[in-house]
Amino acid sequence: MAETMSSGSLSVQRVLTGITTSGTPHLGNYVGAIRPAIAASRQAGAESFYFLADYHALIRAPDPARVQRSTLEIAAAWLAAGLDPDKVLFYRQSDIPEVLELAWLLACVAGKGLLNRAHAYKAAVQRNSAAGADPDAGVNMGLFMYPVLMAADILLFKANLVPVGRDQIQHIEMARDMAARFNHVYGKHLVLPEALIEESVATLPGLDGRKMSKSQGNSIPLFAPVAQMKKLVFSIVTDSRVPGEPKDSEGSALFQVYQAFATPEETTGMRAAFAGGIAWGEAKQVLFERIEAEVAPMRSRYQSLMADPVVIERRLQEGAARARAVARPFLGELRRAVGLRRLY
Ligand code: TRP
Repeated sequence: MAETMSSGSLSVQRVLTGITTSGTPHLGNYVGAIRPAIAASRQAGAESFYFLADYHALIRAPDPARVQRSTLEIAAAWLAAGLDPDKVLFYRQSDIPEVLELAWLLACVAGKGLLNRAHAYKAAVQRNSAAGADPDAGVNMGLFMYPVLMAADILLFKANLVPVGRDQIQHIEMARDMAARFNHVYGKHLVLPEALIEESVATLPGLDGRKMSKSQGNSIPLFAPVAQMKKLVFSIVTDSRVPGEPKDSEGSALFQVYQAFATPEETTGMRAAFAGGIAWGEAKQVLFERIEAEVAPMRSRYQSLMADPVVIERRLQEGAARARAVARPFLGELRRAVGLRRLY
């Protein structure tokens, strides 16, 4: 169970997650993050915060146009997929300067040794050492401070639950660690968050059968135009079994993608079709149509949103105003707690 400071079992759970604005949303992002988050935000008893982590995007690619474009695409994708900005707080991280101030307060209680152990930093150091280079070659302080910034994102809004992928669990643990240390030194102000790992949400395989990821070059853009969507779906890897030959649904990328979009009954039907020797071309056609049934209505909303960034910008500004209304008084409390306060 989530730990809350009030620990009242009836208290509303605050759910918060960030999306790094460094790419174009693909089907894997949709199935693994966007769709479950939107479903969760519709449930009663949860208060959801979703934000575009554009400060985080600066760590890797110094590409201003890309950061801006990705912010637009991701915001449009979430809105097109049905996120209701009246029901959730939807904002852009860099519109909330309180995040950076809290990051500094946390940096001053975070052990350097703790951050030395962060996966992304450690991996960079190991790569450098293996190459005989200086351990910190090419490592900027943004990468090193990544867990501190992420902790600030979470702790600023007293989030109880943070839905993330497995690769982010360590960051949530570090946020807890920093919060506990801060509370120990300055009194109980920060809420210790918990990672929420959706076990039922499968990671979607990509075109080559490995996990769909932009960096692997095996992804299908969520809002690819129909013709490209079809071409990509038809290029999902299969084996060489001929029509009429029974096929394994187990371990089939095609089957797994189908399952992510189909109802349990449809999935059972497809499993039977595989066993019955459905031709790969036919299975791909069924999959393509199934994806389109879900994506097509969203695609047209996406296209109109992309054509009018003013609407999205206004939504984000509204979200930021609401988020800052929460953040500002709380940061004031934290400033007073650490001694940044008036003289009398
Ligand atoms: N690091 C997260 C990721 O790469 C994105 C992120 C930034 C985030 N700040 C966050 C996620 C706060 C959850 C909470 O996926």
